[in-house]
This record gives sequence, C-alpha cells and structure tokens, in this order.
Amino acid sequence: MSSERECIFTVQPGGQLTGNIRVPGDKSISHRSIMLGALAEGITEVSGFLEGEDNLATLNAFRDMGVDIQGPENGRVVIKGVGMHGLKKPAKALYLGNSGTSMRLLTGLFAAQQFDCELTGDSSLSTRPMRRVTDPLAKMGAKTETTDQGTPPIKISGGQPLKGIDYDMPVASAQVKSCLLLAGLYAEGKTCVTEPAPTRDHTERMLTGFGYPVEVKGNRICVTGGGKLTASKIDVPSDISSATFFMVGAAIAPGSDITLEHVGINPTRIGVINILKMMEADITLCNEQTVGGEPVADVRVKYSQLKGIRIPEDQVPLAIDEFPALFVAAACAEGETVLTGAKELRVKESDRIQVMADGLQILGINAQPTEDGMVIQPGQLGSGTVESHGDHRIAMSFAMAALRASGPITINNCANVDTSFPGFVALASKTGLNISE
Ligand code: S3P
Repeated sequence: MSSERECIFTVQPGGQLTGNIRVPGDKSISHRSIMLGALAEGITEVSGFLEGEDNLATLNAFRDMGVDIQGPENGRVVIKGVGMHGLKKPAKALYLGNSGTSMRLLTGLFAAQQFDCELTGDSSLSTRPMRRVTDPLAKMGAKTETTDQGTPPIKISGGQPLKGIDYDMPVASAQVKSCLLLAGLYAEGKTCVTEPAPTRDHTERMLTGFGYPVEVKGNRICVTGGGKLTASKIDVPSDISSATFFMVGAAIAPGSDITLEHVGINPTRIGVINILKMMEADITLCNEQTVGGEPVADVRVKYSQLKGIRIPEDQVPLAIDEFPALFVAAACAEGETVLTGAKELRVKESDRIQVMADGLQILGINAQPTEDGMVIQPGQLGSGTVESHGDHRIAMSFAMAALRASGPITINNCANVDTSFPGFVALASKTGLNISE
C-alpha cells in the first residue's frame, strides 16, 4: 500500500517557478476513459492517460474483469471494449487503493452487473462515506452492503434488475452523479440526477463522445437505460488540479513566470483560476481549443501580490480539489481570506480543513478552521515539519509553501503523491522548487 511507504519531502525556502511544462493527464477523465472504453463496442485509444496509482487501480480492476487493456505506455492505453454486458466476475475483491472516484463510480456500474463483487481500499478510502452512493442505488433496486458506518468495503450483489429514479442530490458531487448515471445505463427507463450546484461534467461529455444520449437541462442530467457505447479516441488534457500547485507557486513567488501547457479548462473545473484572478493573480490563457469534447488551453502565471478575499460559495464545487493549494495562496496574500460552504473538504482523502489549518499553524500562520471552511490571516510562513496525513494534495501544497517560507519545510507521509502526480518532485525541481525526497 503506497501510504505505508516512507516518503518525506524536504523543501528549501525561496526560489521562483519558471519555464514551460506539461503536468500529467487529468485524473477524472483518465478514470472515465477506462470505464467507458471497457464497456464500449470496439477499440478505444487513449493518449495522455494519467499513470497515477488511482487510475491504475481502475485499469487493473477492469483487467481483473477480463478486459484486454494494453499499456499504459507513455500515456497511451488501448482498450478492447467488451460491450455493456461483457464484464466477467473478478476472481477476488477489487482493491482500489486510495481512489474514491474508482470506488464510487464502480459501485454504480457493478450494481447493474450479473455477478457479485467486493470493493476494498487503503486506510484512507476505508473511512470515506459511501452511503451517498449506496442509498440512491438502493432506490434503483441495487443490493449493496457497507460497514455499519457506511464505509468500505462495499459488497455488491449482482443480478438485481434496476429501475430509473429521479434523484435530487443533497451534496454537489460528481462522483455521486456519475455513479448514478453509470447505473442508469442499465436501468429500466430514465435515470435523472439534479445537482444542487454544477459539478465536473466529464462523464456526461464522454458518454456523448461514445454515442450515448445524455439529456442536460440546467442542473438536471438524465440517461435512459438500454443503449450502447461505441469506442472512441480520447486525448486526455493535463489535469488542472495538478497544474494548480504550479499556478499557486508562481503566483506567490516573486520573479515567477510559468506556462502550463494543454491544461483542461472545462468550465466545471476552473474555480481555481476564477478564485486566483479574484485574488489579483496574473493569469492568462492562450491557445484555447477543444480536444475530444474538452476545452484546453496553455495557462501562464506570473508573480503578483495577491489580495485576500471572501471566496464566493458558488466557486466551491468548481475548485473542490484545489483548496489545499488555495489556502497556501491565502497565507501569502494581503488581507484576510474567508472560505465557507466547503464542508465536503472534511471527507476527502484527509480532512483537508483540519489538516491544512494544523500545518499552516505549525508554519506560523493564523489559520482558523471552521465547520465548513477556514479563516486565514496572512503572515510570514516559517520553517517546520508538517503532516500530509497521506493526502497527495496536502503534500504538494505545502511543498509550494516553501517558496515563501523563511526556512525549510519538511512534509511527512508523501508517498500518495503518486496517486495523482507521478514525477512531481522531478517536475517541480525542474521549474525551480528546491525539493528533495
Ligand atoms: C471527482 C469528483 C470530486 C473530486 C474528486 C474527483 C470525479 O469528488 O473531489 O477528486 O472524478 O468525479 P466529489 O464528487 O466527492 O466532489
């Protein structure tokens, strides 16, 4: 298990980020490319696939269900689709590591299969809430079992006929939406999901790209069961969530000027750019184009003095994975930053409100956690040892904090950076971060 491998980052203070780089592929899109490619008729070719541990967990799960998948090799994956009903019962429980996306989306897909299966994960994934998917799936007729706390392992009984439901999601979650849409592909009639606020729409876009009709009216998304998927070519853009660490690093470190190439700028993902711009970051987009149904651009960020803001709540779902890094930006701004409406951060790979507040306090920043957000008074970042709690995004965020720190920052438990950003240390070093592992 990666979280049990010893990995400590030591980052020397100061420096600036410069150059042109391409960060690895989008994690959310990479997961979906394997899932839909496996269920399609024909051969799906993926380029730019993220070879991180989370995506490899999804890929291996489909191999365990008899799908012939070649690669990944330099981001290229070739999937021989088995069709909607071609998956085979895996010989053992499917281990999904740290990956909440794999677990929640696959629960929806497996609820509709003819075979039983069990999904397990690492110590972090084993504490994450799953009733948000198992409750609505039960309304569709699915049979699943979790622990008494509603956490993994999840046991799914196959052979249950599903019927479409009309579901009002209580939390804005793309994982819940996607889980229900995947189950809906097999359900009798129409499955509709209404979101309280827009969340990433990669599932809807990719289903459409594979020829499966998706009805979208405002925040209501519907699919009708019984259709089929036709193989497609997928070019995965760079992950804006991984680009975020470099955007924040460049925004806070004087002298920085970095260009992040071919970044996915899907409107449901660009909260981080919107928020940094509100904080008066110097960000420009160029070479905007659409690739395989997803908008991409090169993102150039230059240093500028940031201002603290009250973050608008409507930006929260659009930047949900970017707050650890944004908290570091807030620590380096002029004036207070206040985040509210972000309770979901408490149930990510770690409790990102508590863990970031603890780490920032160790570094001398007045960061006060609240139930659903944080209040940050900027100040001089100091030196110290912080805990990432095995959360990849916490580790990378504190690494960037060193650019403005008065002394070295040591970050414990960083092995899970490989879940989303293999090669982070080498790429960050190349751009000017003085980091060693
Ligand atoms: C994801 C959705 C988000 C996000 C996660 C990836 C996805 O989770 O935090 O990293 O690929 O659908 P929620 O649906 O829990 O917000």
